[in-house]
Amino acid sequence: MDANASSGLAKTKITSADNAVLRRSAVTWFVVAALGQLAFVWMILAHYGAKTLAGNFVGWNDKPLIKGYVSGDTIGNITFAVHVLLAALVTTGGLLQLAPAIRTHAPMLHRWGGRLFFSIAIVMALSGLWLTWVRYTYLSLVSGLAVSLDGALILSFTTIAWRCAVKRDFAAHRRWALRAFMVVNGVWFLRIGMMAWVLLSGGGLGMNDSLSGPADIVIQFGAYLVPLMVLEAYLRAPASRMRHAKRMIAVLIFLAATITVLGVCGAVAFMWWPYMR
Ligand code: HEM
Repeated sequence: MDANASSGLAKTKITSADNAVLRRSAVTWFVVAALGQLAFVWMILAHYGAKTLAGNFVGWNDKPLIKGYVSGDTIGNITFAVHVLLAALVTTGGLLQLAPAIRTHAPMLHRWGGRLFFSIAIVMALSGLWLTWVRYTYLSLVSGLAVSLDGALILSFTTIAWRCAVKRDFAAHRRWALRAFMVVNGVWFLRIGMMAWVLLSGGGLGMNDSLSGPADIVIQFGAYLVPLMVLEAYLRAPASRMRHAKRMIAVLIFLAATITVLGVCGAVAFMWWPYMR
C-alpha cells in the first residue's frame, strides 16, 4: 500500500471513529432526556390529568402555580386545562417522532404523528401566549418575555419544518424538525435547567421569587437558546473542516447529558415527585 493510500485509510478510520463517538453522545443525551421528559409527562397526567378527570379543577392549584384554577374565569380555566393536558401529548409526541424505528418502519405513522405534533405545538404556543399576556400569568416582565420568545420560535420552527416536509425537502425538514423539538421542550429545559443550577450553586445563587434574578434571566433564555446552539454544533459537525471538531462537539453533548441527568434528578426529587404519586 502506498503512503497516500495508507494515510487516506487512517483518515477514514479516524473519521468513522469520530462519527461513532458523536453519534454515541447524541444517543446518550437523547435517552437521558427521554427519561426526564417521560417523568414530566407522568407528573402532568398524575396531577392535572387525574384532577381534571375527577372534576376537581380547584385541585390543580395543589401544585404551586401563578394562576391555575380561578373561580368564575371559565375561558381562562378551559385554556389552562387545554394547555396543560396537551403538554403531555406534545412531549410524548416529540419523543416518538424522533424514534428512528418509527421513521424507518412506519413512515405513515411518522407523517401523521408529525402533523399532530406540529398542530399541537402551535396550539401550545398560542394558548401559552394567551395565558401569559391576556390572563396576565407571569411573575415578572422578563420571565413573560423569555417564555414568549420561546412561543414565537415554536410557531416559526414548526411552520418551517412542516413546509419543508410538504415540499419533500427532507434534509431541511430534519434540521427544522430538530430545532422545533428543542424549542417545544423549552419549558422542560427550563425546569431542569433551574434545578441543575439550584444543585450546582448550592441553593439557587442569583435567583429570586419573581424569576428576575441574573441567574433566572440567563436560565430562562438559555433554556431554549443553549439547546439550539448545541444542536447547531451537532448538525454542522459532519461538514466541519476543523480538526477534532466532532470529538469536541461529542464532549460538549456528553457534558449536556451530565447536566441533564442532574437537572432531571433535581426536578423529580424537588418539583414533581409529590405530584407523581
Ligand atoms: C409547547 C411547549 C409547552 C409545554 C410542554 C408547556 C407545559 C406547561 C405545563 C405542564 C404547565 C403547568 C405548570 C406546571 O405544572 O409546571 C404550563 C403552564 C403554563 N404555560 Fe406552558 N407549556 C409550553 C409552552 C408554553 C409557552 C410557549 C408559553 C408562553 C408563551 C406558556 C405559558 C404557560 C403559562 C402562562 C402557564 C401557567 C403557569 C402558572 O400558572 O403557574 N407555555 N405549561
